[in-house]
Amino acid sequence: MNHARVRGIDHFGLTVRSLSEAIHDLRNALGAGLCYIEGPIQDPEPGWMVRKLGSRGTCSLQVAAMNVLETNLELFDYAGAERRPWTAMAGEAGTFFLLLRTSRPERVISRLFTENAVVRPVENPVPGYEVTLPSGIHLAVQQGVPGNGEAEQLVGAVCLNRYDYQGAVAELTGTFGLQQVGAVAAFGTSGVLLAGAHGLPVAVLHGHSPAPRPANSDLGGHHVAFHSDDVDASLDALRSGTRYVSRGEPETITDGPIAGDRWVYLNSPFGLQLELINMPDGQLPYEAGAAARRTPIAAGVFA
Ligand SMILES: [Fe+2]
Repeated sequence: MNHARVRGIDHFGLTVRSLSEAIHDLRNALGAGLCYIEGPIQDPEPGWMVRKLGSRGTCSLQVAAMNVLETNLELFDYAGAERRPWTAMAGEAGTFFLLLRTSRPERVISRLFTENAVVRPVENPVPGYEVTLPSGIHLAVQQGVPGNGEAEQLVGAVCLNRYDYQGAVAELTGTFGLQQVGAVAAFGTSGVLLAGAHGLPVAVLHGHSPAPRPANSDLGGHHVAFHSDDVDASLDALRSGTRYVSRGEPETITDGPIAGDRWVYLNSPFGLQLELINMPDGQLPYEAGAAARRTPIAAGVFA
């Protein structure tokens, strides 16, 4: 077991301008399924969202969880939050994008013809397209059959500044047990593909320019969540001798679509916001009537 006592990456979280737009975009472009919508969530006490989630000020939050080609994605829509006054371009330090590797990039692009997506053909270093969906989600579609035997592969990608990149790769491989399995280049950046025995892969890239990171409530704010069988034990392990700072203590959600979920956010020494989570897939209230379900990390672990 790795130092953080985690199984692998459970999901990526991304803050968007509008849940309905983002849900439409991901359904349309990638055939994503909606698992559940949670909220609106309000501060249960003053300052809770600032402390626990890293938002700017008091606001209201709705979360939509989607299964996007087997990748679990949480979309955050903050209402009433102060936002940073600029919009970062894909590939800048502090941004997040989705990377789709497929043998047929044109099939994805053809679905966007009637949409207001910005599509840019790319030849180098990998042929494909760089897309900004109307909701503001950035998507790189690249020609290539992934090495995992699947027809296509979706990867969450985080762009870090020049000071944090090496530390991030060292920590994600050392402390969190991921392994370097390949190289990635998109949106003018390059870096490495990391994956574990279970859970989702993540691409870590050298972002352009040392831009300040977004707050969780800013457009493009994001986090990477690791599944732990015991969130409290993982947190204790990370607090001893490392520079991870938790945003308060773990909490268990007691009602709503994901009652039973235990979670806590962490600030990492390389800037990326992380989460430790134990989502009891197979026992979650939303599952009974859901059009789509999350991809459970435990399926591979306990099969
Ligand atoms: Fe999350």
